[in-house]
Amino acid sequence: MRVEALPAKPGKHHLHNYEEQSANFDWSEVEKEFSWAKTGKINMAHEAIDRHAESDRKNKVALYYKDQHRNETYTFYEMKRMTNRAANLLKSHSDLEKGDRIFIFMPRSPELYFLMFGALKMGLIVGPLFEAFMEGAIYDRLEDSNAKAIITTPELLPRIPKDRLPNLKTIFLVGEEGAEETDGHVDVLKHLNSCSDQFDVEWLEKEDGLVLHYTSGSTGKPKGVLHAQYAMVQQYQTGKWVLDFQEQDIYWCTADPGWVTGTAYGVFSPWLNGVTTVILGGRFSPDAWYQAIEDYGVTVWYSAPTAFRMLMGAGDALVKEYNLSTLRHVLSVGEPLNPEVVKWGAQVFDKRIHDTWWMTETGGQVICNYPSMAIKPGSMGKPIPGVQAAIVDDQGTELPANQMGNLAIKKGWPSMMRQIWNNPQKYDSYFLNDEWYVSGDSAYMDEDGYFWFQGRVDDVIMTSGERVGPFEVESKLLEHPAVAEAGVIGKPDPVRGEIIKAFVALVEGYEPSDELIEEIRQFVKKELAAHAAPREIEFKDKLPKTRSGKIMRRVLKAWELDLPTGDLSTMED
Ligand code: WTA
Repeated sequence: MRVEALPAKPGKHHLHNYEEQSANFDWSEVEKEFSWAKTGKINMAHEAIDRHAESDRKNKVALYYKDQHRNETYTFYEMKRMTNRAANLLKSHSDLEKGDRIFIFMPRSPELYFLMFGALKMGLIVGPLFEAFMEGAIYDRLEDSNAKAIITTPELLPRIPKDRLPNLKTIFLVGEEGAEETDGHVDVLKHLNSCSDQFDVEWLEKEDGLVLHYTSGSTGKPKGVLHAQYAMVQQYQTGKWVLDFQEQDIYWCTADPGWVTGTAYGVFSPWLNGVTTVILGGRFSPDAWYQAIEDYGVTVWYSAPTAFRMLMGAGDALVKEYNLSTLRHVLSVGEPLNPEVVKWGAQVFDKRIHDTWWMTETGGQVICNYPSMAIKPGSMGKPIPGVQAAIVDDQGTELPANQMGNLAIKKGWPSMMRQIWNNPQKYDSYFLNDEWYVSGDSAYMDEDGYFWFQGRVDDVIMTSGERVGPFEVESKLLEHPAVAEAGVIGKPDPVRGEIIKAFVALVEGYEPSDELIEEIRQFVKKELAAHAAPREIEFKDKLPKTRSGKIMRRVLKAWELDLPTGDLSTMED
C-alpha cells in the first residue's frame, strides 16, 4: 500500500530545483570553500572549528551539551581553545604521529569532542567505539588497526585488554576522580586546562585519513571502514541540500559518535557549516528528548526510525506537553522509515519526516528526500546531485524502472570509503566492474526516479538502528561451552526493526533450560555488547547447513516466519 505523497515545503532552500542543480553540479565548486583550494592542504578540525573561531562566528555557540549532570555551552572560539589544549595534551603525553590510530571509547561528554578534534588537529585517524562494547569487541578493533592509543574513562578501563595489545602504548583516562599515571595511563582532566590553548594544526593532504569506523558484515570480523579528509566536501554540501542548514539553525542529531551518523552528521556536517549543534548525553527518554527540543529551540532534528517508533509508542499526549514549534525540518536515517511513522510525524509535529539513505561505507548521505520535493512515504528519495545511483543486476547492468535489484552507486563520490583497513580484497569485493559500488541493499527505482528500499541482500541484522553481523554473534555463541552450533537471524519487530534471534544446538550433556538461555545471553552481552545479545534463543537438535558446513540462515528465517524454505539443494542430508 502506498500512502499519498506529501507536497514540497515552501521556503528558501539550498536545493530548490533538483533537476537543474543535478544537471549542472560540479564538486570542484564546493572545494573552493576550504583551505585546500588556497594552500593545497586541509584539516577537518580547522575547517569545522578554527575557521569559524577566526571569523564573525567567533562568539556563536558551536555546542550545547547536556546530560543528567552537566549543562554547558561552548562557542566556536572556546571550542578552538579547548581542542588546541586537547591536541597539546595528546601530543605531549604520547609518541603519536600523523596517521596513527587513536580510539575513543567513552560516553558522550564535551571532553569527548575536545579530544576527538584535538586528535584530528594532530592528523591522527580517530576510531570511535560504542560505549556498550565489551572486551572481545574492543580487542578485535584495536588489534586489527594496530592502535597506539585509546581515550576512555576509569569505569570502562577494565574492558581494555592491554596485555593482549602490545602496540597500545597510551591510555588517556577521563574521570573526575583522577587516575594513577603509571603504565602509560594519562589523567586527562588533571592536565587539560593547563595545556596551552595555542596549537599549529597538522596540515594534511585531502586523501589523508580522518575516521576509522568498524562496521559489521554478514561474514568475517567487523571491518574497518577508513574515510579520508576529503569526505568533508560531501558532508558539508549535504548539510546544505539535505539538512537544509540556515545560519540561525539549532541542530540536533541524536546519534552516538560510535556510529558514522554521530561523526559525519553529529559534528562534521553542522560544524563545517558553522551551525550550532546540540548534543545530549545519557539514555533515550521521550521526556528528555522533547524537553531538549523545547529548551534549545531545536530547528533541525536528525534521528532514526527506531527512535521515532519509540516516541510514537510513548503516545501523542506527551507531545502536547512540550512546545516543539521551533522544529522546521525533521530527518531520519538507518533503517526503512515506515510510511506509518511519516504519517504520524505529519500529524503530531506537523512536519514531514525526511528519510535519508546512506551507509558507513558511503561516508555521507546519498539518497534523500529534500524539503523542496514531494515525499512519497516509504521511499528513500533521490540521489544527491553529483552522485549517481542505480539499480543494477549481478553483472552490473542497469535495470529499468520498477525492477528490483542491487542498489549501487557509481564509484568515485567524494565521501566514498578509501580502504577497508588491512583488507584490500574485502575493499575490492564491494565494486563491480570497477564501476559500481554495490551496497548490499536491494531496492527499485520508480518511474519518477524515487528509490524504494526492499531489504538486505546479505544477512546483516538491523536492530534498533544498529548494524549487527550474524557471524560475529554466532562466533561468540560458539565460545560458550554449552553451544555446539549457532545460527543467528534478524526477526522482524514492530519497534526495533529487527531483534536478534539465535538458534542453538547444544553440546552433548547439556539440557535446554531457561537458566541456560539466560546464561548464554549474558555471555554474549558481557563479551560482545548488550545490543548484540540475542533477545530470543531457541534450541534445536541440529541446524540446517550447506554441504560446506555454512549455517543456512535463510532456512532458519523461513522456519521462523513460516515461509517456504526455497531451494534446499545445497543443504547437507
Ligand atoms: C540501512 C549508516 C532503509 C541499509 C548511516 C544500509 C536504510 C545500512 C536507510 C547501513 C534508509 C540506512 N532506509 N535502510 N533510509 N538508511 N539503511 O552503515 O540496509 O550502520 O545498507 O549506516 O542501513 O548501515 P550503517
